[in-house]
Amino acid sequence: MSTLTEDTQLGGQKLKRIVFTEDEVRRRVRELGAEISRSYGASDRLLVLGLLKGSFLFLADLVRAIDLPLQVDFVVAASYGASQVSSGELKLLYTPEASLEGRAVIIVEDIVDSGHTLSRLLPLLREQGPSSLEVCALLHKRIQPLDWEPRWVGFDAPHEFLVGYGLDYAEDFRHLPYIASL
Ligand code: IMP
Ligand code: MG
Repeated sequence: MSTLTEDTQLGGQKLKRIVFTEDEVRRRVRELGAEISRSYGASDRLLVLGLLKGSFLFLADLVRAIDLPLQVDFVVAASYGASQVSSGELKLLYTPEASLEGRAVIIVEDIVDSGHTLSRLLPLLREQGPSSLEVCALLHKRIQPLDWEPRWVGFDAPHEFLVGYGLDYAEDFRHLPYIASL
């Protein structure tokens, strides 16, 4: 348990409700780690790629629950478009140092909303010739059918704006140990 009170962490800002508690998140992340551990072997040379910034806490907890040798790296992507919705082009600001060639790669994402970000990112990564490329998303809003689907999903998410455990609103709330709606 955190010694910080919720009020201190929120700095007076208000949340609507807690959607997934710290305990629920912890238990589900452990389960995902166990499922992933059963799906690969040491010879797969697993590379776990966190999509920053939203995945930073999920990634940190997930890799500690995976009982296999693996390496961790990050992808930083920014989408540019006319609207606030991710409609524009995707630009990779940071790509992994390690080659993806011949490796089993898992992209770790905080939340799949429209799915546009990953729809653009996955082909770019596939060009590098990984032996497999899967997505592990903590949350999935299931807004629309996708021609790729995450292989692992932590929770189906309500169609509300969520914050905490990595997810932000204007960069606030990422550090909350639970997931809440605004
Ligand atoms: P997509 O490209 O529409 O799937 O959007 C994915 C990205 O949008 C996520 O990685 C988040 O950064 C952001 N996002 C989508 N829904 C939420 C939300 O409810 N809270 C916080 N960020 C969100
Ligand atoms: Mg975000």
